Amino acid sequence: MSDRKRILTGDRPTGRLHLGHYVGSLENRVRLQDEYECYFLVADLHMLTTKPQKEHVEAISENARQMVYDSLACGIDPAKSVIYLQSAVVETYELNLLLEMLVTVPRLQRLPSLKDMARDAELSEMPFGLLGYPVLQSADILLPRAHLVPVGKDNEAHVELTRELARRFNSYYDEVFPVPDVMIGNVPTLVGTDGNGKMSKSLGNAIMLSDDARTVEKKVNGMYTDPKRVRADIPGTVEGNPVFVYHDVFNPNRAEVEDLKERYRTGRVGDVEVKEKLAAAINGFLEPLRERRAQFESRTGFVDEVLYDGTLKMREQARETIVAVRKAMGLAGVWNRISRSAEKARKRRDDHGATTV
Ligand code: TRP
Repeated sequence: MSDRKRILTGDRPTGRLHLGHYVGSLENRVRLQDEYECYFLVADLHMLTTKPQKEHVEAISENARQMVYDSLACGIDPAKSVIYLQSAVVETYELNLLLEMLVTVPRLQRLPSLKDMARDAELSEMPFGLLGYPVLQSADILLPRAHLVPVGKDNEAHVELTRELARRFNSYYDEVFPVPDVMIGNVPTLVGTDGNGKMSKSLGNAIMLSDDARTVEKKVNGMYTDPKRVRADIPGTVEGNPVFVYHDVFNPNRAEVEDLKERYRTGRVGDVEVKEKLAAAINGFLEPLRERRAQFESRTGFVDEVLYDGTLKMREQARETIVAVRKAMGLAGVWNRISRSAEKARKRRDDHGATTV
């Protein structure tokens, strides 16, 4: 095992990833994969917290593949990083249950993210598993004993809970877990194309990393801008305007962006020009990703191998941690005492039986 510090993060396999995922977390993952030993999970158990039905389970394989393609397209190198399937690492379930003993229900009920998820999934009451979402996430993070968790802003409070659980575990039992730091991306929450506060596939306001150039043009063309600006010669608002938010993030030509902003503010540019230049910038950003994706897609079975090898590696890691956890808690001792005593009793009886028959 190397002595580099570790990263754990991941996403639910609900489909392909979008620009919000990229600026929220993927960018950091790619940047840090040489400095850290990286573990990236496909969080299929987390998906079940709101979508437990058979049809969703059946969609996992394909969605997981798409997610892995997206990660590889962004520059995650499977030779350096571990990418694994959460549900195939059984220690996840075990650590999850043990961590559940260290948190109260009101602590979890105070997390706004869970209520939002229940509402978005149109669930009128909170499923037990969904309430435990951040505990399961903590099990993910603590299983490889990660030091750093690059995530979007919406996951920040979950990592805060993970820190509490790590500290509590260490103080109740023994120092097993590092207290992990959270790392939020450059753009904590990327606005959607419709001006909604958050880009999300389910809200239909997302530009996917795998969208082709024409789709990007169409989506950008339909973007929400300053609603008060009904004509090109009316001065417009740049601040918070999604097209300019995206220009700031994805257009490397700073001079062009400043020029567009200046003319927008003074009513000397049409939305069409602003949007055409934005689509060109986003397509410039996505083109290398599309090329990498196509290369990986042409290698039959390659993503499955990546997930398979990663899962086997993660299992080894998880095994080590769970052994340390059971030992620290004393659960290993309970079982050892019982099994040793039982074996001795059996042996005594067998020996006795052998002499009397
Ligand atoms: N909660 C993350 C999401 O919003 C997915 C996830 C599950 C995760 N386990 C994790 C993220 C561990 C970081 C660390 O999709």
